[in-house]
Amino acid sequence: MNYKIAVIPGDGIGPEVIRETIKVLKKIEEKTEHTFQFTEVLAGGCAIDATGKCLPEKTVEVCKESDAVLLGAVGGWKWDTLPGDQRPERALLGLRKELGLFANLRPALLFDDLADACPLKKEIVSGGLDLLVVRELTGGIYFGEKGTWETDMGLAAYDVEQYSEEEVRRIAKVAFDMAKKRKNKVTSVDKANVLESSRLWRRVVEEEAKKYPEVFLEHLYVDNAAMQIIRDPKQFDVILTGNIFGDILSDEASQITGSIGMLPSASLGAGNFGMYEPVHGSAPDLAGKDLANPFATILSAAMMLRYTLGLWEEGKEIEKGVEKVLEEGYRTPDIASSGTKEIGTKEAGDRVAAALD
Ligand code: IPM
Ligand code: MG
Repeated sequence: MNYKIAVIPGDGIGPEVIRETIKVLKKIEEKTEHTFQFTEVLAGGCAIDATGKCLPEKTVEVCKESDAVLLGAVGGWKWDTLPGDQRPERALLGLRKELGLFANLRPALLFDDLADACPLKKEIVSGGLDLLVVRELTGGIYFGEKGTWETDMGLAAYDVEQYSEEEVRRIAKVAFDMAKKRKNKVTSVDKANVLESSRLWRRVVEEEAKKYPEVFLEHLYVDNAAMQIIRDPKQFDVILTGNIFGDILSDEASQITGSIGMLPSASLGAGNFGMYEPVHGSAPDLAGKDLANPFATILSAAMMLRYTLGLWEEGKEIEKGVEKVLEEGYRTPDIASSGTKEIGTKEAGDRVAAALD
């Protein structure tokens, strides 16, 4: 089969990690009868520089005509002083909304060989760690009404956290379906002791849970959840939560895996279409220095093969390739420790590609 992939390298280390990922996908092409037709498009700061807009219409068009989108990262110091609605990050929110990608899957997996890079005590993570954050991606405070107004005490600003029953139901369904393929446990995270929107969230999640009698459901307040992820991360299977809590908790979970440079993500809608990107940002301080860790983007491509293209075996091959490179002791600087062999972005990509032979 031929698959159309829209590629958005973006800013900072984005282009470097994407370059290495395409190298690995080309290897999959060589080894199978599948082909990928890559179309590169602009989004983020580079799009602002080239077109004046962080998300040009053409980019959205190309994405809509593709089977999947592969994205590096957007943003950087250069554009940090622009008003909120013109910042490069708006491109991400725009893509998520325009493409209807309401479900964000962020697996946090601790590779055996990276146990040393994990900041938690050995006994807390021994036996590995495998949790999945299912984050609602097109609702909540990110997309609620927002504004600023004058008061006697100076300017004031607000952002509204809001969820409809339907928005909660469809993301809850994704979490329960995922749990069924994993360890049958969903932890729904909210702030129902304070927020009305969280009380609605909790009620709808409970209703949806009735359709999944085999899945065990528990609720945690977000402050407690943040604590439990550090105290005993192995208690989690699927963490189901809203947009902003998911943003925060997925960064926290990523640290347990050794580095945010290891964490892939998938953003899905109602069908098979999806956007795949590393959880990390554009890291402008690392850009162009061959220091970035491309594994998160390479693992995102593996998720793309599985979830959107249905190429489960090939996805697994890529994951095994990354594992092999780690097993052989090679590490990008963010995950290096004494006794390991430090390599750059390019060599990391080369080595994963070679591991597929
Ligand atoms: C993420 C990022 C984005 C988010 C930013 C860059 C808009 O932090 O994907 O986690 O908050 O969703
Ligand atoms: Mg984030």
